[in-house]
Amino acid sequence: MSLIFFIRYDSTHKMAVKAWVILYMQLFNQKTTTMKKTITAIIVVAAMYACGNQNGTAPADNAAAGEEKKEASTNPSYDPERGEGKFKTVEVPATLDAALAEKGNKVYGVKCSSCHKLTEEKLVGPGWKGVTTRFTAPWIMNFITNTDEMLTKDPKAQAQLEICLVRMPNQNLSDDDARSLYEFMRKNDGVK
Ligand code: HEC
Repeated sequence: MSLIFFIRYDSTHKMAVKAWVILYMQLFNQKTTTMKKTITAIIVVAAMYACGNQNGTAPADNAAAGEEKKEASTNPSYDPERGEGKFKTVEVPATLDAALAEKGNKVYGVKCSSCHKLTEEKLVGPGWKGVTTRFTAPWIMNFITNTDEMLTKDPKAQAQLEICLVRMPNQNLSDDDARSLYEFMRKNDGVK
């Protein structure tokens, strides 16, 4: 009896995203001496963990950030911290703008909640818990307003696409929607 583990390692988020456990049992039928019959039972248990990073660390302080820079170096004009789109820098106050976050909550309910949970758990897309620690404000706002282009250029977005197998559709958000959604994500990540 042998036990084989295949763990797919997500280099972007430094975690195992899928674990395949294959239990391989070979039972030899010893009844006849002339012929050994092999009965093979394969039980495959596929444990698919939540899509996304469970123990989010800031992109700057993990080794994966370095790897991403390497990947992106094929296109030197691409900045993986900022993404691609109209947002270059975003003014983010230290404390929460509660009214803005509430506005974001409403947009979330209408346009995002069908695919994103507020926990770490994957629905169609990754859960939002910790998303503001995984990505910068410009990255998130560029991703949600310029989704298609980001999915063709950004290594982290592509890594999620590989896991989720669904391309996030463009949500036709205004700049204000994008900013309010970012504030709502900050609230969800515990900013007060
Ligand atoms: C039809 C399903 C769907 C809807 C609706 C949707 N998303 Fe997504 N989203 C995805 C998928 C799938 C991904 C993973 C990346 C990819 O493949 O596009 C994703 C990724 C993301 C990411 C990157 C998160 C990460 O951890 O990698 C952010 C941020 C995001 N979505 C924000 C939004 C916002 C904001 C809205 C609403 C305005 C929204 N999404 C609506 C499916 C959706």
